[in-house]
Amino acid sequence: MNDELSSTLTRRLGGIAYGGDYNPEQWDRATWVEDVRLMCEAGVNLVTVGVFSWSSLEPRDGHFTFGWLDEIIDLLWSNGIAVDLATPNAAPPPWLAGHTDTLLVERDGRRVSIGSRGHFCPSSELYRDRSRRIASALAERYRNHPAIALWHIGNEYHAHCFCDTCDSRFRGWLQHRYGSLEELNDRWGTTFWSQGYDAWDQVHLPSKVRGHVNPTRELDFSRFTSEVQHELFLAERDILRAAAPGIPITTNFMAFFPLIDYRRWAEGVDVVSLDMYPDPAVPGSLIEAAFQYDLMRSLRHGQPWLLLEQASSAVSQWQVNVAKSPERMRLGSYQAVARGADSVMFFQWRASRYGQEKFHSAMVPHGGESTDTWRAVRALGQELDTLRDVPGSRIRAEAAIVWDWDNKWAVEGAAHPLNSFSYRDVVMEHYRALWRTGVHADVISLDDDLSAYRVIVVPNQYLLSQHAADALRRFVENGGHVLVSYFSGIVDEHDHVALPGYAPGLRETIGAHVRDITAIREGEAIPLVVSMEIADLPGSAAAMRWQDDIGLETATALVSYGSGRFAGRPAVTDNRLGAGRAIYVGTTLDEGLLGAIMSDLVKTAGVRPPLSAPADVEVVERRSEAASYLFALNHSDEARNVVLEREAIDRLTGVAYSSGHTLELAPQDVAVLFSARIGA
Ligand code: GLA
Ligand code: ZN
Repeated sequence: MNDELSSTLTRRLGGIAYGGDYNPEQWDRATWVEDVRLMCEAGVNLVTVGVFSWSSLEPRDGHFTFGWLDEIIDLLWSNGIAVDLATPNAAPPPWLAGHTDTLLVERDGRRVSIGSRGHFCPSSELYRDRSRRIASALAERYRNHPAIALWHIGNEYHAHCFCDTCDSRFRGWLQHRYGSLEELNDRWGTTFWSQGYDAWDQVHLPSKVRGHVNPTRELDFSRFTSEVQHELFLAERDILRAAAPGIPITTNFMAFFPLIDYRRWAEGVDVVSLDMYPDPAVPGSLIEAAFQYDLMRSLRHGQPWLLLEQASSAVSQWQVNVAKSPERMRLGSYQAVARGADSVMFFQWRASRYGQEKFHSAMVPHGGESTDTWRAVRALGQELDTLRDVPGSRIRAEAAIVWDWDNKWAVEGAAHPLNSFSYRDVVMEHYRALWRTGVHADVISLDDDLSAYRVIVVPNQYLLSQHAADALRRFVENGGHVLVSYFSGIVDEHDHVALPGYAPGLRETIGAHVRDITAIREGEAIPLVVSMEIADLPGSAAAMRWQDDIGLETATALVSYGSGRFAGRPAVTDNRLGAGRAIYVGTTLDEGLLGAIMSDLVKTAGVRPPLSAPADVEVVERRSEAASYLFALNHSDEARNVVLEREAIDRLTGVAYSSGHTLELAPQDVAVLFSARIGA
């Protein structure tokens, strides 16, 4: 991992990157001057330029108009504002879209037309050529410009295309992957429903079929889709890297986009970056944001990442777009920094006068300087200046939770007892329980190095390779504590059931086997009998949605079903193996019981939160060699107290506290408690 290059950005900026997407092509020169004045006032040091500028930069095929971009980059730089310069491939202009084979085809065979964005076919040679050509032209022209601090390739790659060019590319990808038709037939299980292929030209991508689909074919198409877009990214990256080897490169990831395996993509960027839009109207959406932030940090093994987009207030793309309060905007921004972001950036700088997103909030709203949003944006930029030494500091996590895209594609593509199933929801239920314990957690895959952790939570790992199953077993044997939840270890990487059913790869680890799986009727809750000694047990406990019929081997039952077909049989089991422990949860537990079990797991594993705090105060510690920064974030609408365990200075207020001091955090307030690490 090239940390040197990733930290170039914040070293150049001398602190946390602050700014947003800037679209000067929508404004006149007088507004540019006003923009720069306001940027300076708000402490903006980085803006993302050019994301959707293709038609303004190349209005006709091969005819470039870089003059305005030269001008604005110079203007920004002469005011000390650096540029995250984008390649504009996300929105090909009409002249290119006039070649219809550059346009994306949807699953039903319909070719999309222009007027939106992201309408390109990732396999089109012409699209590939023209997007590379403009990337090269930008690289050539600006590679030595001192303003350019970061390259931003494309925007939120995320398209499935079903055109003929993608079809033949998919076939080539399969030929390379499987080598022979026999292998493909075997992996895709084509004896089911008479799908045996006799020649390669019979093999196609999964465009619309009459009824249900072949799940392995779908799984492979998802893998291919991630890869084919990655090729586009890598081609542009190589152009930029060759032209300007000292400038870090990113592409903005989008929270919960299903079509890209960001773990694989993260290997190819210099710094991971994320766009995050937690809905202020949805309770707990900041916990989902925390999950994304932990994921982004973990993709490159703890390397700080960039929050490249968030909203200053409301978005405009949902059904109901509730405004984010200035307090919540500040809280959410610090939450990202607490969890490893070295930037706070927004979409976008100035609210557009026209276009689809004209009512999307911005750093400078339509109402300008008189708005609460502007005042909050300006205050935050000024405040972030007190955290100049935070970039580069890291979070040490002893707990981890698994998130795996291959698994997501597989489990959501399979037909099984509960087809309303959402992998994201199951992972989030477990992450919420972990978040409430207050411990730092990374978000990993079972292919990562597990040795740094004491606790690993494995929610619903339906697709489990032998390699991952072995790694998990060794982790436990060596003293690790795991919690594995239902419908895990069910299929191999080809989506074939691992026999004997179910979960043979987990059998030794959990000390049990799963004889059968079944769904619980919608709305039904089966009472549970808890036989474990555990703190904070809820008064009553219930199982929902899913039931495993578990056969105990070396494990004991912690919780059993109180009624129904499986009455008396285990719902949650506990196994000791080697020096470690594995808890297996064979159902959806209610929040109270899952929380109590999670908290018991981290406690018995000896993992502690950085500071004990009330449940709705999030505390995260970033550390450098010389300093500790304890971020305390009060999510509550009421004041909350935390007792400091060492002397510290709140960087945001400049007030010094002694160890043992009770710090009162106002509603939604934040403290960044700095302590020197003596002798560290
Ligand atoms: C995405 C895009 C932006 C903008 C925002 C609006 O993240 O990258 O261009 O559309 O959403 O929230
Ligand atoms: Zn295509």
